[in-house]
Amino acid sequence: MSETAEATPSAAGPVPGITPAGQTPYSAWMQTDTLHALQRTVSDHPGEHAWIVHVQVSELYWMLIVKEMHSAQRFLRADDLPQAWRTLQRVVAHHAPLDAIWRSIDWMTPNDLLAILSRAVGTYGKDTALQGWTYRQMVYLFGIKQAEHLQHFEPQPQRKAQLEQALAEPSLYDDVLAFLQRRGMNIPQALLARDLRAPYLPSKEVEQVWRDIYATPDRHADLQQLGETLADIAEGFCNWKFRHLMATRRTFGARPAYFGTEGVAWLAPSLEEIPFPELWSARTFIGSPPPVCPHMARQGR
Ligand code: HEM
Repeated sequence: MSETAEATPSAAGPVPGITPAGQTPYSAWMQTDTLHALQRTVSDHPGEHAWIVHVQVSELYWMLIVKEMHSAQRFLRADDLPQAWRTLQRVVAHHAPLDAIWRSIDWMTPNDLLAILSRAVGTYGKDTALQGWTYRQMVYLFGIKQAEHLQHFEPQPQRKAQLEQALAEPSLYDDVLAFLQRRGMNIPQALLARDLRAPYLPSKEVEQVWRDIYATPDRHADLQQLGETLADIAEGFCNWKFRHLMATRRTFGARPAYFGTEGVAWLAPSLEEIPFPELWSARTFIGSPPPVCPHMARQGR
C-alpha cells in the first residue's frame, strides 16, 4: 500500500508541551498560517479565491478518502469487518461536502471562468485537472485502473512513481474480494492473482457471489451492509462526476479542452465508469420476480 501517498510530511514535529514561538496552540496544530498562505491568485477576478478554495478543499477531501481507504484495506486484510465498515462509512460521509462544495462556484459564467483560466495558462502553462495525483490515486483505489493517465506526471517523478505503485497494488475492491474469498465465497483465485495494473474486467463468478450474498435478506447481513456501503461510495463518486459535468457544460459549453476535442464529449462517457461493477450488475438478479410481471399483466399478455 503506497503510504507515500499520504502526502508530504511536515518539516519538523512539535516539541511536547511547548507552543512554537509566535503561534497559539490552535494555529500551531491547524497550521493556519501555512494554510491561508496557499491561495495565490493569478488574476484580478474577485471570484478566483472561491475557485482556488473550491479546488484545494476538494484536493484535501480526495487525500482524506485515500487515507481512509488505505485504513479500510488494512482492516479488511486483518478480517476486521466492523472496523473496515466504520472506516468506509466515513468515506461515504466525505462525499457529502465534496458534492455540496459545487454550490460555491455555481455563480460562474463562461466569462468568469475564462478570465481566470486565461491568466492561469499565461502564468503556469496549459493545465488540466488530469494533472492532479490525489484524484487519480483515489480512482485507482476504487479499482478504475487507467494507466494512460500516468503520462501527465512526467514532470512530477515522485508522484508518477507513487501512482505507478498504486496502479500495481490491490484496489479497495480487490481487498473486498479477497476478504469475501476468505469468508468462503467463490471468488476465483485467478482473478485475485491477475495483473493488477490492467483495467478490471467484470466477472460472472463475482456477480454470482454478490447475488448469493443478497439472496436471503437475513443471511450474510454483515456482507450486505458492506455491499450497501460500497454502493453508497460509488454513488457519491458518480454524483461528483455528474456535478462536474454540469459545471463544465455551464461554464465551458462545447469548447475544445486539454486534448483539443470537446471537453464535455471527453467527460460524458466517464459517467459510466462506476466502481465495484458486479455489485451493480448483480442487482438485476436479486429478489424474486413477481409470479406475473405487472407490466405484462397491464398489457393483457
Ligand atoms: C467549472 C469549470 C470546469 C470545467 C470547464 C472543467 C473542465 C474539465 C474538462 C474538459 C476535463 C477533461 C480533461 C480535460 O480536457 O482537461 C476535466 C477533468 C477533470 N476536472 Fe474539471 N472542470 C471544471 C472544474 C473543475 C473543478 C472545480 C475541479 C476540482 C474540484 C475539477 C476536477 C477535475 C478532475 C479531477 C478531472 C479528471 C476527471 C476524470 O479523470 O474523469 N474540475 N475538467
